[in-house]
Amino acid sequence: MSFPVDVVVMAAGKGTRMKSQRPKVLHRLGGRALAQHVIDCAARLSARSVVVITGHGAEQVEAGLQAPATTALRFVRQEPQLGTGHAVQQAVPVLADDGVVLILNGDVPLIGQATLETLLQACDGQHLALLSVDTGGDATGYGRIVRSVDADRSVHAIVEHKDANEAQRRITEWYSGVMAAPASLLKSLLKDLTNDNSQREYYLTDVVKHAVAQGLVVRAVTTCDAVEVAGVNSPVQLAELERACQRRVADVLMEQGTRLADPARLDVRGELVCGQDVEIDVNCVFEGRVQLGDGVRVGANCVIANAVIETGAVIHPFTHIDGEKLGVKVGPGALVGPFARLRPGADLGAEVHIGNFVEVKNSTLAAGAKANHLAYLGDATVGERVNYGAGSITANYDGANKHRTVIEADVHVGSNCVLVAPVTIGAGGTVGGGSTITKDTAPGALSVARGKQVAIANWQRPRKKKQAP
Ligand code: UD1
Ligand code: MG
Repeated sequence: MSFPVDVVVMAAGKGTRMKSQRPKVLHRLGGRALAQHVIDCAARLSARSVVVITGHGAEQVEAGLQAPATTALRFVRQEPQLGTGHAVQQAVPVLADDGVVLILNGDVPLIGQATLETLLQACDGQHLALLSVDTGGDATGYGRIVRSVDADRSVHAIVEHKDANEAQRRITEWYSGVMAAPASLLKSLLKDLTNDNSQREYYLTDVVKHAVAQGLVVRAVTTCDAVEVAGVNSPVQLAELERACQRRVADVLMEQGTRLADPARLDVRGELVCGQDVEIDVNCVFEGRVQLGDGVRVGANCVIANAVIETGAVIHPFTHIDGEKLGVKVGPGALVGPFARLRPGADLGAEVHIGNFVEVKNSTLAAGAKANHLAYLGDATVGERVNYGAGSITANYDGANKHRTVIEADVHVGSNCVLVAPVTIGAGGTVGGGSTITKDTAPGALSVARGKQVAIANWQRPRKKKQAP
């Protein structure tokens, strides 16, 4: 675009029909706030700045939205809310005169970059251009695009549903809430707004009739994609749009070659990057940033967040992985689950096996290490080929501080052991089942720390006393 673009996002409205304490534009779609989708789209358009108009729940909204890396984010308050025209009037002092202003709605999250680029081209730095929708169906509630009866069918006005007559209500082309105009033109048109209409509001849409009255041509770009202009007003609409949003994500993944058992049963609430020949079974949820390497298979009902799963690893069903800020890494060819839990800082080397009901936190497992059943590894460094027995745990927390456990290469830890940290199990050593190990063990040694087995021959078990009749 040859002109700078400043985006205004309208987000001051109440959202009564959400019936929620949370401001509407902070409700989440695909893991991101509705208005954040709009801001991020503005950034993809290389907008110079984004101005968000806040009102209801302003403090929460301002705290809940993040500036993209390359676009300045500002907030302007609108109090009280006297209509969409009044909302944009509040932004006038912060809008530079040399740019084009693109007006978007904070509750229309899936607006498409390509459509906005077409709209900006129609605006071309000099015209008022609006995005209209025509799916041929019912347009109840929306502002209707009234066009000239002449052959040029030029746009005359936008008439709000509540102010429209019968003939106008039959028009199927409606205003999406998105428009673009040079800042200087928009500012002058905003001065002419009045509230002499059925809702006693300052309508942004009235800028169209004022422009036409000045002899200007108003350009319209029309879309028939109902999803990209869909607004969220209620939990039902939010859920419908969530499915539409997820379907788009699924389609992109499948186009890249990812095999989804069922695209309708996938939820990506962040960014999922897949290599070649990745297979994902039903009901998996991905959050934050997740990377799946070539040939990775994810079983049904897994929740995976903030993790890197390397080539050929298999995540069996019902596994929960969340790297939070530290991340989780699963090495090539590793097998995890079913029913495993990997927490922040779990770093599994190649061919590591983590089986059912095993929890790993802030621990490194070198290549070929195995913990197959019912175990806990926290703050541990585990060497190559270690076999860690069922029911064994690292006691890493003394009630005040965390300590590390070091299990050197080729150690065999029996079942039901407690390794009391800080402690080191020397390379190649064996820990007898049921041991509580509190001291370092020597390499190659068998260490047993449990009550000795005793045998009392012919032991008579106590018998039940006879009850008096
Ligand atoms: C608006 C349009 C209508 C269009 C429809 C598309 C006007 C007058 N009408 O109607 O032509 O078909 O959107 O969805 O613009 N907002 C504020 N401050 C206010 C009022 C609203 O920030 O004082 C924000 C709302 O939070 C919302 C957006 O502006 O994000 C649109 O407001 P809304 O009340 O939904 O307008 P509609 O009546 O739907
Ligand atoms: Mg609306």
